[in-house]
Amino acid sequence: MASKFFVPGTDRAPKVGDLFATIAPRYDVINDLQSFGMHRLWKQQMVVEAGLQPGNHALDVCCGTGDVTFRLARTGADTIGFDFSHPMLAVAAERAAQDPLPAGSGTVCFQQGDALQLPFADRSFDVVTISYGLRNLADFQRGLRELTRVLKPGGRLLVLDFGKPDFLPWRWVYFQYLERICPLFGRIFCGDGDTHGYILDSLKAYPAQHGVDAALRELGYIETRIQCFLGGTMTLNVGQRR
Ligand SMILES: C[S@@+](CC[C@H](N)C(=O)[O-])C[C@H]1O[C@@H](n2cnc3c(N)ncnc32)[C@H](O)[C@@H]1O
Repeated sequence: MASKFFVPGTDRAPKVGDLFATIAPRYDVINDLQSFGMHRLWKQQMVVEAGLQPGNHALDVCCGTGDVTFRLARTGADTIGFDFSHPMLAVAAERAAQDPLPAGSGTVCFQQGDALQLPFADRSFDVVTISYGLRNLADFQRGLRELTRVLKPGGRLLVLDFGKPDFLPWRWVYFQYLERICPLFGRIFCGDGDTHGYILDSLKAYPAQHGVDAALRELGYIETRIQCFLGGTMTLNVGQRR
């Protein structure tokens, strides 16, 4: 049965908002447990690929609790974390207060709003990242257009998310993990298996790495690449705006 948090179409955003309000206090610990800590490596790899220089401007859309936002700022880039979930942003603010960034880091601020209507001028950022966010938007293509709008020409867009392995037996095993094991994290830590049953439902409705790559090329990105981790269970799309 589908997760109650997964509703395709225009009603998607409020349900996604409910989902992240439910899991916000436990989000970071569950991430570590369900990925065996490896999400940290994948996020760090995304930041390396961003190729930021001190003084650059970076935008981390669907930033959640700020994992990627803080990493971007540590490169010296002035960074904005952007998300519509107040509970997730509250955790990010708590983390910022408890663990200040080292000297040489760029500035960090968090802003609340909808990724499909970013309150930033065209061509504002050198780098735009979205990790585990694009899959949650009601319309991923509209999301990509909006991310592209605020990216400077020559700037980089990076999309990290769950992938769909090309090797079908491996995809089957991985989908079994998402269907049978992941909901246990939701049940144990949030009292509701649907919170993490959502991952597989949303992934099935998402075109994943190849669809994102095709969409980026359609939008005129150059040098698009896909990096696969763990046989394509996690993937990073990279593209440069023309
Ligand atoms: C799975 S979390 C990812 C958080 C973080 N980027 C990370 O990698 O740990 C997805 C985030 O996307 C946010 N989100 C989903 N739809 C959004 C939208 N339309 N506008 C802004 N944020 C959105 C959620 O609130 C949530 O914080």
